[in-house]
Amino acid sequence: MLSPLDTSERREILFARLEDARARTDALFTLLNPEALYDRAIPERHRLVFYLGHLEAFDWNLLAHTAFNHPSFNPKFDNLFAFGIDPVGGGLPTDQPSDWPRESIVRQYKSRVRKELDRLLNETDLNPSEDPFMANGTLLQVAIEHRLMHVETLMYLLHELPFDRKNVQCKSVESPESRPSPAFAGVAIPEGVATLGQKRESNLFGWDNEFVSNQVNVPAFTIDSYPVTNGQFLEFVRDTGYAHRPYWSAADWEWKMRSGLEHPHFWLREGNSWAYRGLFDRQPLPMDWPVHVSHAEASAYCRWAGKRLPTEPEWHRAAYGTMGGKENDFPWGNAAPEVIHGNFNFVNLNPTPVNAHPEGTSAFGVNNLLGNGWEWTGSRFEPFPGFQAFPFYPGYSTNFFDGQHYVMKGGSQQTAACMLRRSFRNWFQPHYVYMYAKFRCVEG
Ligand code: AVJ
Ligand code: FE
Repeated sequence: MLSPLDTSERREILFARLEDARARTDALFTLLNPEALYDRAIPERHRLVFYLGHLEAFDWNLLAHTAFNHPSFNPKFDNLFAFGIDPVGGGLPTDQPSDWPRESIVRQYKSRVRKELDRLLNETDLNPSEDPFMANGTLLQVAIEHRLMHVETLMYLLHELPFDRKNVQCKSVESPESRPSPAFAGVAIPEGVATLGQKRESNLFGWDNEFVSNQVNVPAFTIDSYPVTNGQFLEFVRDTGYAHRPYWSAADWEWKMRSGLEHPHFWLREGNSWAYRGLFDRQPLPMDWPVHVSHAEASAYCRWAGKRLPTEPEWHRAAYGTMGGKENDFPWGNAAPEVIHGNFNFVNLNPTPVNAHPEGTSAFGVNNLLGNGWEWTGSRFEPFPGFQAFPFYPGYSTNFFDGQHYVMKGGSQQTAACMLRRSFRNWFQPHYVYMYAKFRCVEG
């Protein structure tokens, strides 16, 4: 976390973080075969080439335009690559590869943005005004975290490409040690207060939807000690849960029938058994990994089990609450996230067994909360009281306060450590099957 630092020291740190984030996004583009750049990996999203331009256009629009009021050298590209898409209600994009500029031209734009931006950043005061939105290098942090979020969203996209569109040399060797099955249990969380969001006076970076801090009283409930595993979800599949109408809401059922979904999107049926569809190849379904599913499937499983998804405040209580009433910064306490605490920060390409990180357990005894898959909540994505949109990026959250997105907490194997802060909120539509998203159930 950024405590008040000397301005030049903070500058150095932020510049180094930007460089690191750039190196990460650059590396992602070596993961696909060159001819796959114009593929559309997910029907609801832009072709991959968009992202090559987007990361730079975003930084340029935010920093050069908004912060420094600098004239553009390519307004057409600034605009073409400005925003991704998240169509609500099924309208899919229909553009063709030939509608996009050639790779070499996009790469030229990319290097020129970096060069000009670095010059501007080196010449300019990062705290141009006393405006709290501008102070503390907020804009630069927006650029850094935006880029790191796209590492994750790009990984979802690359995951969807056929294996032969990817560069197997990027495959990492991960042989998770096998552990005895965890003892699944319900953990009783007593009634208490959850503190959501963060204070404006905290002077720490957060996206607009993380403000302001607000307290919610949470009645007692019981929560699963581990996220639901592939092995547990298989019981639901075997019990014909996908075909049983009462487990599904009307909208979810309609969607499931239309899409023909009969099992988690990351599973492949192989005769009488199941495989996990990894980034580079398939492998026998690891039963002790968390199952990655949509909100709709998670909700159906919960109904089958006679339970429900936790609300956002309940998830907070389970993760950060303590017996004494004090709330921790992280489930394990207040220490900064380390490898031992969970599967996050790009260490693994794959999930790990749900009980691989006992050091990450919360004070109440709830496991595997941060990393290894975002966790779906039953709460719609809504503004906290006192919400104000970022004036330099008004749509970041506001466009999604539409009742069609659900809050997710925690993080996945592809989530950068800086976004594991307590107040960070992620969101997606309930029928989005491509994310690394897990869940656990509650009762009460
Ligand atoms: C916060 C992850 C839902 O990917 O749609 C990236 C982040 N917004 N560029 C998304 C985002 C604009 C956003 N999520
Ligand atoms: Fe973006």
